[in-house]
Amino acid sequence: MSAVNVWQGAGRRIYMNEVGTRDGLQMEQTFVPTAEKIALVNALSAAGLSKIEVTAFVSPTAIPALRDGEIVMREIERRPGTIYTALVPNVRGAERAIDARTDELNLVMSVSETHNLCNLRMQRSQSFAALQQVVATAQQAAVAVNVSLSCCFGCPMEGGVPQAEVLAWVQRFVDLGVQGVTLCDTTGMAYPSQVLALVAACKARWPQLGLTLHFHNTRGMALANVLAAIDAGADRFDASMGGLGGCPYAPGASGNACTEDIVHALALMDYDTGVDLAAVVAAAQSLPALIGHDIPSQIAKAGPRWALHLPPAGFQEIRERALAKG
Ligand code: COA
Ligand code: ZN
Repeated sequence: MSAVNVWQGAGRRIYMNEVGTRDGLQMEQTFVPTAEKIALVNALSAAGLSKIEVTAFVSPTAIPALRDGEIVMREIERRPGTIYTALVPNVRGAERAIDARTDELNLVMSVSETHNLCNLRMQRSQSFAALQQVVATAQQAAVAVNVSLSCCFGCPMEGGVPQAEVLAWVQRFVDLGVQGVTLCDTTGMAYPSQVLALVAACKARWPQLGLTLHFHNTRGMALANVLAAIDAGADRFDASMGGLGGCPYAPGASGNACTEDIVHALALMDYDTGVDLAAVVAAAQSLPALIGHDIPSQIAKAGPRWALHLPPAGFQEIRERALAKG
């Protein structure tokens, strides 16, 4: 690994994967109308996101908020250069996703046995066997596969997950020929030195693998973890507009790394995300009216560092008085 100085991006490309319409909306009590979901995805495409996780092809009973996956995936406008992905738990989901012209299937299982049982109702070995079938289905249809591994930085029920355990699960999927793996910090347990070590280990072992990091800001460490991952050579990140998100089957889960907060920080440090910050902020600012509550985003509220404010009324007088005092 060649260490990169995180304080000077020097135009280095960072790929942002927007997960707000999937990881974000899956938790919401209010059903966001299908047309509004399509409009959000179209706005995010126009904002220049590299990849968008549009929806999930899961059981509509398990996640009613995303029961309109097919219509959303079929009716969005496809911007050349953006990859449209979707979460898929089983072969049924894969068939639905492929039928709706999804560019990439994002498979999911947990490296924690307890979390896997809670979220997917299977042991990890059963999930792996089932996902092998999904990978085969995708490969037959020549559709790319990414695997998101939950709880790579700790499980809220089991505690720490050994790095060797995470690497062993990544290896199993690399052996199946998947294009990408996402290391997920499902409940915000990751911390920067841990992130640096795990990303460095993955980069050393699989330099060609499309490696993505997925952090939640549950304990305020998402941005610090992104910077640590970049320092270890990572260049792909999941994030959610407005900082929405969280797994319904993970106790204490809360918002994802916030897209506009990450894009803003990386822009200041001269990284190139290709993302139009103002456009993402506009999308985030439309969310409270759709979901009925405030969003955790900082930048949607504070504005970017470069948006300056006028001095308060009476400033001229204050200045003149101060000058008169010599
Ligand atoms: N798409 C649509 N419906 C599906 C489906 C899919 N991909 N997979 C399963 N179903 C339906 C089945 O038809 C069945 O419906 P029915 O009750 O009307 O007969 C029901 O879901 C249960 O199916 P079953 O095969 O018994 O699976 P299960 O109960 O063990 O559920 C999951 C397994 C994983 C498919 C389901 O729990 C799920 O989709 N969970 C969502 C997980 C998720 O998105 N978590 C958050 C993201 S990490
Ligand atoms: Zn998540």
